[in-house]
Order: sequence, then C-alpha cells, then structure tokens
Amino acid sequence: MNLTLSAVAPQQIKTDCLIIPLFKETTAKDPQIKLPSKVVNILTDYAKLGNINSDCGQINWLFEVKECASPRLLVLGLGPISEFTAEKAISALQAAAAALLQKQYATAALALEGLACAAFSNDQWIQHAALALNEKAYQFNAFKTKTAAKKPKLKSICLCVGNSSLKNSQKALGYALALAEGMSFVKDLGNTPANHCIPSSIAKSAQEMSKKHPKLSTTVLSVADMKKLGMNAILAVGQGSRNEPKFIIVEYKGAKKSDAPIALVGKGITFDTGGISLKPPATMDEMKYDMCGAATVLGAIKVAAALNLPINIVALAACAENMPGGNAIKPGDVISTLSGQTVEILNTDAEGRLVLCDALTYCARYKPEVVLDFATLTGAMVVALGTHTSGFFSNDEALATALNHASKNSLDSAWRMPLIECFKDDLKSNFADLANIAPHRWGGAIEAAVFLAQFTKDYRWAHFDIAGTAYNGGANKGATARPLPLLMEYLYQRAYGKS
Ligand code: BES
Ligand code: MN
Ligand code: ZN
Repeated sequence: MNLTLSAVAPQQIKTDCLIIPLFKETTAKDPQIKLPSKVVNILTDYAKLGNINSDCGQINWLFEVKECASPRLLVLGLGPISEFTAEKAISALQAAAAALLQKQYATAALALEGLACAAFSNDQWIQHAALALNEKAYQFNAFKTKTAAKKPKLKSICLCVGNSSLKNSQKALGYALALAEGMSFVKDLGNTPANHCIPSSIAKSAQEMSKKHPKLSTTVLSVADMKKLGMNAILAVGQGSRNEPKFIIVEYKGAKKSDAPIALVGKGITFDTGGISLKPPATMDEMKYDMCGAATVLGAIKVAAALNLPINIVALAACAENMPGGNAIKPGDVISTLSGQTVEILNTDAEGRLVLCDALTYCARYKPEVVLDFATLTGAMVVALGTHTSGFFSNDEALATALNHASKNSLDSAWRMPLIECFKDDLKSNFADLANIAPHRWGGAIEAAVFLAQFTKDYRWAHFDIAGTAYNGGANKGATARPLPLLMEYLYQRAYGKS
C-alpha cells in the first residue's frame, strides 16, 4: 500500500473516498480541520439533522457533496473534544481503516490538517493512520488455497497534512512505514505453523533479511557449535526434537565499530509441547507462537536497518523445539549451563528460561550497553496483567524509566514488575545450583524473571514477558507483533534522543 503526504486541500483531491474526522463540537467557526466553511457547514447541518453520528469511531457516508472532488465522504466520528484521548484516536482510525478496506476502493484520502492536539500530535495522527491501515489490511493466506478473505484493493492513500507540516511529517511517515513493515514480518513469522517454522527456518529468514542490507550480518550456531561452547541449556531443550536447535545472531552496525551495541535476546521456541511435562491439549496450537520473542528481535533489527539508525544492535534468537521423545530431557535431569551454573530441570515446560539463560550469558561477550530480552515466558504473566499489557522487569532504574517512556510514547502498553530477591530461595535444588521452577505457583512471572536474573548480573538488563500480548487467541487468533512499537520507540530514542 502506498501512503503519501500532500499539501493539497482535502476537498480538491480526486480520490474514491475522502475521510473527514469530526469532533462533536465541530462548527464552521471552529472547524478544527482545515476545510472550506461550505463543506463544514454541510457536515454540521447534517449533524444537526441527526444524520451524522460523531461518537468516537462512528462511520458516516455522504455522497456527492458538490464542494468535494471525491464522490464520497467517510465522516469519522471522534467524539467530544473534552473526552478525546490517544486511545480513542487509534480506535477511530482503526474503524475507518476497516470500513475503507471493506468497501474495496482503490484510493482514499484522509484529512488531517488541524487535528493535532495535546492528546494526539500531528506525527501521531500520521503514524497511527499508517499503522491502523497496516493492521487492518494484514492477512496471512500463505496456507490457504482459495483465499477466503478478499485481498484488499486499496492501492494508495493520501494523508492531507497541509503545507506547514509537510516536511516534518515525512519523517513520521517514514518511521511508521518501516515499523509497519517490521510488524508484518513479525506477524508472518509468528503465524507460520510450527511444521513450517522450525529453528532452521527462522535462521534462513534471518539470513535472507541480512542479505538485503549491507549493515546486517548473520551467524548461525549449529548444535556442534553450541556443544563446543557449552550451551547445554538450549541444547537440552532441543534434544527431544528431530528439528535441531539453532542460535541465531544478527548484527546491525549503524554506528562506529567501537560503540557498545544494544543486545536484544529473543525466546524462539518454535513449538512448546511442554516436553515430558506435557501441556494439556486445549489451545496447545497457540504454542506455535512461543517464538514471538525471537521474531520481535529480528523484526527490530530489520526496522533499525530500514531506518538506518546510527546505533549498533545485536539480536540473538535462541531457537529450539520443545518436544517429548526418546532423547528428551526428563524432570530431575541436571544440566550445566554456559554460565557454569548447574540447573535441575524439575519441569520440562519451563524451557523458555533455559534457552534464555544461555543466550543471556552468551550476549555478555558483546559488552552490550544494555540487554533487553523478549519472551512468551509464563502463563502467570497473563494472569497478572491480562492480554493488553506486557510485563517487564529490570535491574536498572534509568533503563526502566526509559522503557516506561517508550511505552507511553508508542501507546504500546507495558507495566514494570518487581524483581524480588527472596524469590531466589524458591529456586533451591538438592542436586544443582538452581532449580528451573519453584515448588509452588505463586508469582510465577516474577519467579521466571528472578531465574533469568541469575544470569544477567554483569550488565543493565530488562526482561519482557510477552505471553499475554504477542498474539491473540480465540476468534481473532493471530500474532500482534507487540511489543515491537515500544521497542522501536526505545531504539529510536537511543539513536536520536538526549538520554
Ligand atoms: N510458553 C509457555 C508460557 C506461555 C503460557 C505462553 C501461555 C503463552 C501462553 C512457557 O514455556 C511455559 O510453559 N511456562 C510454564 C512455566 C511453569 C512450568 C513454571 C507456565 O507458564 O505454565
Ligand atoms: Mn513451556
Ligand atoms: Zn514456552
């Protein structure tokens, strides 16, 4: 889909459909949006007659308004100004995007000039318009012979931002388009069924991505490589499967060689059966999404490269398939991790922390500025925060503050959770340095984070538990590509921000 910015007045644009956002209070005197008073009068007259519902997210169609070059107007309710929030703006934009795509028009324009306000800036209007369109237009039809859903016909959309902000808006649009593309990449990886997405497929996808960009390079560690290094935790998780584990390293060099990179670590369990501690069957299919952390870090590096961010990043994806089998790990098995610490595997379904602990040890060799990991790690995280908000943990106050800012600015909900020292007491083992689970289920997301914290003592670190946010279950089953918006906002601030 081709999104462009224009300084042309919206009513003059020849397009299949012109979208006009409308606040409840809009009058010809105070139109908010830059339209000729004649057009605004028509809209407000209609509204007075009760023909326009300007509640937030409402879609109203007007035809052949003669002051407008477009044969039809989609008047998009924004609700009362006093109640307007960024969340409302996004839901209205998503409603408009869905309506537009459903009508199968080829072209559209969106009138944005004059809408910027404290709750939602000009840049946010542009970015979230682009993201809403991408979200609603996304389809995953790779495995359907007759595509059930119609392919969207929408080819181009013009965002009317006016002359004054045309130049500045270009940056915001470029950012949103790169992010949107990255999100589709993450969704595709996540939605691909686990018989088509095994550790080597993710490696292949990383290699293909890095071939397309001169500042990217990929290294894939095989089982033999990992054996030599002593990465026995990730090897243990993968040993029950015929699909061998892979440790994927993608480096992005956007700054001086000597600049410390930001390390991004992703859990890449291409399918989590639970192993010998087998999961119950209901919704087990959703465990194909257990590699969404890995997809997120690869997506981030893709977007960073597309935007040419002046920073160094290394993404590490710890990929394995967690299966029961003749050679699978068993409850009670003891392994020696890359860090040297030994772990008693009391539950083979707590495999995410195992692949991550080796990855978190490995990444120290890059002497990273900070380390962020992303993992669909615990069901307990979903119990604690639900499916709208990602949980994150950090051993560094300034990093946590920056991540909270990134969450707020990107409108990608996240909440800091505590790393509680004494939870470590529950990870005692009679046979190893650590057990991989506690003897009870209370505070399970914190317990998992505290386990990881035993491997991250040498650097500033944050851990994102995205079990609730990385994908939707139920009727709208699908990957969400969250929290990529938050992560890109953080990386963008690292690249260009003051702190
Ligand atoms: N991949 C799961 C976590 C998960 C659960 C993600 C639900 C998305 C939705 C993880 O590997 C797991 O199985 N965790 C266990 C840990 C337990 C054995 C301590 C869990 O949450 O039940
Ligand atoms: Mn598991
Ligand atoms: Zn898992």
